[in-house]
Amino acid sequence: MANAWFETVAEAQRRARKRLPRSVYGALVAGSEKGVTLEDNVAAFAELGFAPHVAGLSAKRDLATTVMGQSISLPVVISPTGVQAVHPDGELAVARAAASRGTAMGLSSFASRPIEEIVKANPKTFFQIYWIGTREQMRARLQRARAAGAVGIIATLDWSFSHGRDWGSPYIPERLTLREALRFAPEALTHPRWLFSYLRAGHLPDLTVPNMADAGEPAPTFFGAYGQWMQTTPPSWSDVAWLREQWDGPFMLKGVTRVDDALRAADAGVTAISVSNHGGNNLDGTPATIRVLPSIVDAVGDRVEVLLDGGVRRGSDVVKALALGARAVMIGRAYLWGLAANGQRGVQNVLDILRSGIDSALMGLGHRSVAELSRDDLVIPPGFTRTLGAPQPPG
Ligand SMILES: Cc1cc2nc3c(=O)[nH]c(=O)nc-3n(C[C@H](O)[C@H](O)[C@H](O)COP(=O)(O)O)c2cc1C
Repeated sequence: MANAWFETVAEAQRRARKRLPRSVYGALVAGSEKGVTLEDNVAAFAELGFAPHVAGLSAKRDLATTVMGQSISLPVVISPTGVQAVHPDGELAVARAAASRGTAMGLSSFASRPIEEIVKANPKTFFQIYWIGTREQMRARLQRARAAGAVGIIATLDWSFSHGRDWGSPYIPERLTLREALRFAPEALTHPRWLFSYLRAGHLPDLTVPNMADAGEPAPTFFGAYGQWMQTTPPSWSDVAWLREQWDGPFMLKGVTRVDDALRAADAGVTAISVSNHGGNNLDGTPATIRVLPSIVDAVGDRVEVLLDGGVRRGSDVVKALALGARAVMIGRAYLWGLAANGQRGVQNVLDILRSGIDSALMGLGHRSVAELSRDDLVIPPGFTRTLGAPQPPG
């Protein structure tokens, strides 16, 4: 067998594309509308440059930090993704990989594995919740997460049900019935390694979302839960404050891009925010998260921990985000491609790539630890940043 190790996230993506059936790969690429935000998330990182030193470099660098009370060995956390059918071990492989590399994991409400199983594999698990259903149902989901041992909550609120893509959306069945399996067969049969991994595991993807099950009820299908979401009135800021009060522990609000929202989140008492546009899957035309990060960091100061997610593909991207004030980043597609390419080892491979990329950038910049990074380390082109939701200077 060819060497399963890959040297960059781009190579993991190439392998994922080759290995996965077209519609599964398409579900990972995701994005929305024209893909402006999806592309800008990645492209904006490349606009930023570094200002390296040539001597006085440190022989050892410390990458460790903490996020929401959890010590992590590198400033990279697994962002929650509700993606089914990438790999038979799914989120379990991701949880094991993150634990083996000393970092934390966000588990999506739409994950294919139950929270109880994931916390056992990685005790540093944050459970991600959407505003779906009644307050009682949400409270019950939080209680279940608490009983399972989740160490924090990620509330993701940036979703506006945008479903069209210029490059076409993948077909995802409600359930993988025999009829659906036959319809899917040509795609699956031309991707035998993917199919074989499921046959070896003894099951096909079941496309249910166990963490959305009401007590004593079977897990709903992804589309069943999604339908309930579409019928739920979106939350007000007092609903956000209510949700935060239901969890007496670390709580992150994910999806913030505006200064005024960041300040409101801080007022609601959150522990952390993730500056995020849902990986460009939501309202297309939202700027890259790295462009809006500095204004949010400046506005909230030390009131909350600020993380960033969106477009992180390299260790140097992580370093750029930290230099602009993020405490850590979260990754989505990067680990999903690793998972598709080589299961748990593929996710470990991605985390190792990021770790060595962070380390090498820190070395070049002459720092001993991630805590020393600052805007001085970067070349920021004029007009790079964007400030949303704050008074603009005249002109
Ligand atoms: C296929 C896919 C599914 C996602 N599902 C969820 C989800 O269930 N919950 C959530 O909070 N974010 C979800 N996200 C967003 C990610 O947590 C994260 O914000 C995003 O992927 C970061 O961008 P990146 O993929 O460029 O790293 C999803 C992203 C992708 C690509």
